[in-house]
Amino acid sequence: MIYSKFLGVGSYVPPRVWTNQDLTSLMDTSDEWIQQRTGIKERHWVDQDSATCTSDLALEASVRALEAANVKKEEIDLIILATLSPDHEFPGTGCFLQSKLDLPGIPALDIRQQCTGFIYGISIADQFLKSKQYKKVLVVGAEVHSKGLDKTTRGRDVTVLFGDGAGAVVMGAEEGAPDEKTSRLINTFLHADGRFAKELWVPEPGLAHPGPRMAPERFDGREYPQMNGKTVFTYATKKMPEVLMESLSAAGKTLEDVDLFIFHQANLRINEMVAKQLRIPEEKVYNTISRFGNTTAATIPLGIDEAVKSGRLKKGMLVASAAFGAGFTWASALYRW
Ligand code: UT7
Repeated sequence: MIYSKFLGVGSYVPPRVWTNQDLTSLMDTSDEWIQQRTGIKERHWVDQDSATCTSDLALEASVRALEAANVKKEEIDLIILATLSPDHEFPGTGCFLQSKLDLPGIPALDIRQQCTGFIYGISIADQFLKSKQYKKVLVVGAEVHSKGLDKTTRGRDVTVLFGDGAGAVVMGAEEGAPDEKTSRLINTFLHADGRFAKELWVPEPGLAHPGPRMAPERFDGREYPQMNGKTVFTYATKKMPEVLMESLSAAGKTLEDVDLFIFHQANLRINEMVAKQLRIPEEKVYNTISRFGNTTAATIPLGIDEAVKSGRLKKGMLVASAAFGAGFTWASALYRW
């Protein structure tokens, strides 16, 4: 049997930290409001005057993942990059990353599945690996949100949530008969419901209206993310437990079998509610949001990397991940590290 496994993980965040207090110089907000509502204390943002973009952060994370996996970049057969903050509208940021990695010729695929993008990415990689088309795949989640946020009081409900960062994994195909303890990706489950597309989106610039795409009258804040926070919160706390249980039941596992839960980091209160509903002990949930905010496609690989580095995630552990975000999209992954 052919199965896929994670060979290595890496992450990168830009050096500059913005505390909640720092944000008060830009907008009417407070450390108390942000911490109470979201659990976020600080986030990393790229230097706003620099040309640093998503593919730069993705490159740093990729190099670290390759090093951790002990895999030469030339061994990579496919690059999958998930982001909602691409370097340019086209071509895909995966192509820019491929060029920065100096790997001309191999396929580079972008995924626009927002907070769920990384799980969609490893699921796609899994199919290519299991079908024997490729042997090694680089999957990256990377975001430079900071340059696309409304940093005035008008945008404060969204802006305080998001941080810049990247996480990457190298996945490889293995042949054999995996047993209970074999390190591998066990399953993934993917979902979307486009009826909710406008609950969290960036309306402009877009082509879904008559007339020129860049008409100035369309740019009255609609070029920044618009979010119906309460609806997102409600559906996230409903869909994440559902999809998590889908993965566990398909594998014949229970919540008690899972050693560590590495969820998407949108809001600490969402993860607390998910854990409470499922009666998951707090110490089994690995959260990083207080230090990084929501780095969207990067939260899960960044969380895996932090958990490995801190010794919290050890070889042989059973890990469950779940994510929910714009689209709406939601997904889960169950893996033996
Ligand atoms: O990855 C998926 C991405 N997004 C999410 O998962 C987000 C899910 N939603 C949420 O996390 C929450 O809805 C938020 C944290 C975004 C907002 O919390 P809320 O409890 O839903 O607050 P709200 O939007 O109802 O706003 C409450 C008040 C409002 O003031 P008034 O009308 O009561 O006077 C807002 O204007 O808080 C105000 N407010 C703020 N105040 C200080 C909104 N944002 C801020 C802010 N600082 N940053």
